[in-house]
Amino acid sequence: MRRWMRCCPVRRNGQPPWRSRPVDNGASTSGQDSPMSHGIAVIGLGVIGRRMLDQTRHRNDLKVVSAWDITDRAMRSAAADFPEVPLAASARAAIEAPGVDIVYVGTPPAFHREYVEMAIAAGRKVFCEKPLAVSLVDGEAIVRALSTSATANGVNYVFASAPAVAAMESRLRAGAIGSPRQAEIRLFFSRWPRDWQANAGWLAWREEGGFVREVLSHYVYLLRRLLGPVAIEAAAIGWQEDPALCERSALARLSCGGVPVLVSASAGAAGPDVVEFTLRGDAGALRLENWFELSASDGKRWTQLPHGGLGADRPDPRTAAYQSQLDSLAQLARGEPQPIPDAAVALEVQKTIEALLAS
Ligand SMILES: NC(=O)c1ccc[n+]([C@@H]2O[C@H](COP(=O)([O-])OP(=O)(O)OC[C@H]3O[C@@H](n4cnc5c(N)ncnc54)[C@H](O)[C@@H]3O)[C@@H](O)[C@H]2O)c1
Repeated sequence: MRRWMRCCPVRRNGQPPWRSRPVDNGASTSGQDSPMSHGIAVIGLGVIGRRMLDQTRHRNDLKVVSAWDITDRAMRSAAADFPEVPLAASARAAIEAPGVDIVYVGTPPAFHREYVEMAIAAGRKVFCEKPLAVSLVDGEAIVRALSTSATANGVNYVFASAPAVAAMESRLRAGAIGSPRQAEIRLFFSRWPRDWQANAGWLAWREEGGFVREVLSHYVYLLRRLLGPVAIEAAAIGWQEDPALCERSALARLSCGGVPVLVSASAGAAGPDVVEFTLRGDAGALRLENWFELSASDGKRWTQLPHGGLGADRPDPRTAAYQSQLDSLAQLARGEPQPIPDAAVALEVQKTIEALLAS
């Protein structure tokens, strides 16, 4: 990958065009907005890094105080769309900038370890994107480094704080479906990577990408949370003709706390996308569709349940889930209990996902 410094056009005053506002070099100002505000350094300004910039814009407990991406294209587009965000000259400068409490690692997974280690060295808390890593060596090194340095950390499995998942879990625990008997995960993508990921070319490749890592990992996290540790009983991955490309299909039978789980995932044919998780008990069933739409069944028909967590700043289920996750991130920054899984949990998810892909 090109280093942006080699190709970034420079203005006559010597400043690259994306340097919209310098990182504040004054005294440490953790909490620049209000005494309770925590500063975030964002590393990686693609789809998910930009989402963090967008979703923290109107919060007064979290504020992006520095950001950096390896490509000049991402830096320029962040400067144009988020002129209030200070862009740093390097990852290290972003992470070490005054006022940074949390480093948000939003790069493709192969680079998570490098930036997590940089954040630890700078004494920052860590919020890392999933999957934690692709290689087991990297995943284990991340967990070890976070644990030996006692660094507060979380991995961005968005179901962690999603109101729909909290509602599903409380119904399950209250016995609304009786004893869990089986779960089903159905994923289908007409195009992979999806249209909104057109710039995220790495998702198409076997080395780091594919929908098993990118999407199924969320459901492995969810299974683990709802039912317990996940074991693989049988799996068959269908690969594309070009061995460098990611999977085209994945069929699996998992066992989760004794509950059988059937997985069917595929991409590359016509029809609307499907992202669906169903949990069936002996007295009823619960279903999450389109990520955050919760329905319940008494055994006959499905009834969509009203969505909790909506509000003026959270007008739709997706925004509600993201903002709830940021509520949890602010709690993490304050040292309060919160539901975001840490790297050790994410490593367990990673092991299941990589074992599936290796089967
Ligand atoms: N939690 C979620 O719901 C969710 C959703 C989408 C993506 N993700 C995860 O977020 C991460 C990023 O995904 P994305 O969709 O934003 O990808 P993307 O390709 O859109 O963005 C990645 C950005 O990282 C930059 N980058 C690449 N290598 C870098 C490096 N060494 N140093 C600094 N920047 C680098 C790229 O230039 C790009 O701008 C992945 O781990 C992905 O799995 C999570």
